[in-house]
Amino acid sequence: MKEWDSFPSITKGKGIWLIDSEGNKIIDAVGSMWCNVWGHSNPQLVKAITNQSKKIQHSSLFNLTNEPVEQLADNLIKISPGMYRVFFSDNGSSAMEIAIKMALQYWKNIGEPNKTQIATVENGYHGDTFGAMSVGYVPEFFEKFKKQLFSTVQFPVPNKYRIPKGFNFSDYQNDCLDKIEKRFSKQDNIAAFIMESGAQMAGGVIIYPKGFQKKIRDLCKKHGVLFVLDEIATGFGRLGSMTQYQEQKSIPDIVAYGKMLTGGYLTMAATLANKKIYDSFSGEFNEWKHLFHGHTYTGNPMAASVANENFNMYQKNNLIKKIQSTSKVFTDYYQRLSEIDIVGDIRHKGMLMGIELVSDKSKKTPIRTKKSINKVFFEEGRKHGIYFRTLGNIVMLVPPLAITEKELNLLLDRTIKTIEAVRTKII
Ligand SMILES: Cc1ncc(COP(=O)(O)O)c(C=O)c1O
Repeated sequence: MKEWDSFPSITKGKGIWLIDSEGNKIIDAVGSMWCNVWGHSNPQLVKAITNQSKKIQHSSLFNLTNEPVEQLADNLIKISPGMYRVFFSDNGSSAMEIAIKMALQYWKNIGEPNKTQIATVENGYHGDTFGAMSVGYVPEFFEKFKKQLFSTVQFPVPNKYRIPKGFNFSDYQNDCLDKIEKRFSKQDNIAAFIMESGAQMAGGVIIYPKGFQKKIRDLCKKHGVLFVLDEIATGFGRLGSMTQYQEQKSIPDIVAYGKMLTGGYLTMAATLANKKIYDSFSGEFNEWKHLFHGHTYTGNPMAASVANENFNMYQKNNLIKKIQSTSKVFTDYYQRLSEIDIVGDIRHKGMLMGIELVSDKSKKTPIRTKKSINKVFFEEGRKHGIYFRTLGNIVMLVPPLAITEKELNLLLDRTIKTIEAVRTKII
């Protein structure tokens, strides 16, 4: 993109701060693309990596195993009610590809080869590989590849800010669920329903209404459809609970984790399955029921070591409780934010806030700028000491999860100043 002629080079990080090659300090409001937990250069996490790097740096999970990854599998199972086994990979998109393959092959393994369709919700995002793009679909991102994506059955997701005419929010939710129920009742070839857990992130910070996810899960159960959740961006405390599916009372058949798994320091992801799914893959060799999937860096011991230390720190520091308390700071700013005339909607849960900017509050018209809004905010944010990456007209605040109250106040004060500065430029 021509508007990006150069990029600041980040040379150091400390806590919530990123420091560039010219010595500028900016708050990481993006949490290193939504994955940072303890801030940058945390000594305990760095130590976990360096200690492991002296023993074995990488050894594959093909015919072998290693101690850190075994430990990590145990840790993951402990926090994941209903889950039985873990399949490791090295990024969220791959974790979702694996989830899709598991769900589709499960039905073949148990002798129901006609279950081949996947159901999803509109505007979901599960990564940038072709399978993950197919089960997601944010039009702006994927439009150019539409012909190459496999078809899915998509259902609307209730967005409280944009309720269709003639509905109240409750009717709208029921309508979305009715559509699913009707389709499930007349179509028996649906293998799985795939959705982000708790909220859609890249689709625009759409936080599901209470009970919505559980009702979908119940419909899946009733109609023999596997329920697959993507907790890659929303699990591990981002929305204020260790797993969103527990909070939403919606235990899945398969769940994917990534992002915060290693505290945001090394690349690793995991796909967990329940016993029913796992058992369907464990036939004799010549039954060919096993899952043909593996990546070079699957089960990397350094990534697993830092993930284990990350888990220890969640427990020792009672991080989830701390997030629940610190994140109340966001609510103190609702009033000031909503008074800004280009702020149309504020969506917040846990350590996530989405601020939707509009040029006309009553018509809810998204703001437009000459350069991309992302570029405008990035530049103005740097002047105010913040690193922003917006999602179209939505300013996202996704800071390191362990951010303190004082730091969060600073981030929000600076965010308001940035929005006001952008406002004077575009109005
Ligand atoms: C919900 C969700 N799923 C999957 C992914 C893909 O993860 P990765 O970027 O590690 O491939 C993302 C990335 O933002 C995500 O937000």
